Amino acid sequence: MSAVGVYYDLCQRLMGPWRTRMLSGAELCEVGRIVYGRPEGFSLYGVGAPAMEAAGIRILGRTAAECCVDTMSLDVAHAVADLHLHRDGGDEPLVAELFCGSGNLGVHLGRVLGLPVYAADLDPLIYRATRHNLHSVGAPTRLQLIDYRELLPELTPRGPADTYIIEPPWGPAISPLGLDLLGTSPPVPEILADILRARDGRPCLVGIKTIDRIRHDSLNVAFAGAHHLRTITGEPPFPDASRMQFHFYRLGPGT
Ligand SMILES: C[S@@+](CC[C@H](N)C(=O)[O-])C[C@H]1O[C@@H](n2cnc3c(N)ncnc32)[C@H](O)[C@@H]1O
Repeated sequence: MSAVGVYYDLCQRLMGPWRTRMLSGAELCEVGRIVYGRPEGFSLYGVGAPAMEAAGIRILGRTAAECCVDTMSLDVAHAVADLHLHRDGGDEPLVAELFCGSGNLGVHLGRVLGLPVYAADLDPLIYRATRHNLHSVGAPTRLQLIDYRELLPELTPRGPADTYIIEPPWGPAISPLGLDLLGTSPPVPEILADILRARDGRPCLVGIKTIDRIRHDSLNVAFAGAHHLRTITGEPPFPDASRMQFHFYRLGPGT
């Protein structure tokens, strides 16, 4: 089987039969080798795959496929810190990871920004594993087993640097042809509307993870009316030559 075939086969196992199963140390290393080129390339909370089992880190198959690993999470955290530099004083910004999965983005955001991150995931299995992992690594993330739509009204807006990280499940929105942000669950425009509604329209920052193969111009369509701030691209590419990307936008009036 080609490297791309092996990669797609692993993704299918992670999102299929292994979806709700805790991965063994050997399986975590296999993810590292196949997806990131070496076992250590699969690293979460600062712990590489070869050390995860001994460190008691619990990763479900689904989370292994969906997560944002340390290198990209650290880049995201530094990008947000840089965007916050340009705010006009005021209160400490609110930072929320609305679809947290592993919670790894929140861990790095919290460490780099020096503030607690609010996080939601509505899957009880993922919530339990992530709560355990966050406790193991001493992350002060305020994690809740909750739908992001219920978390949003609990988060009192503080100012225009408030930052929401969104990464809804891709499901059938992802195919070898690319990612359709209008087909995620829920669709990205709906999430953006929910955020703005919870803030009574007040401006904020939004970060979103994609790959660099976007279908139907759906990133531009979803963020029509928002102001693009920057895009960061992950290295190395995945075995199918797609690359992970993170885009930051200013949302709301005056953008
Ligand atoms: C693509 S994953 C996020 C991966 C995460 N960024 C990481 O680094 O591990 C999407 C997550 O959102 C959760 N989820 C799906 N719908 C949700 C909702 N309505 N509210 C909160 N979490 C949700 C899923 O359980 C899943 O863990």
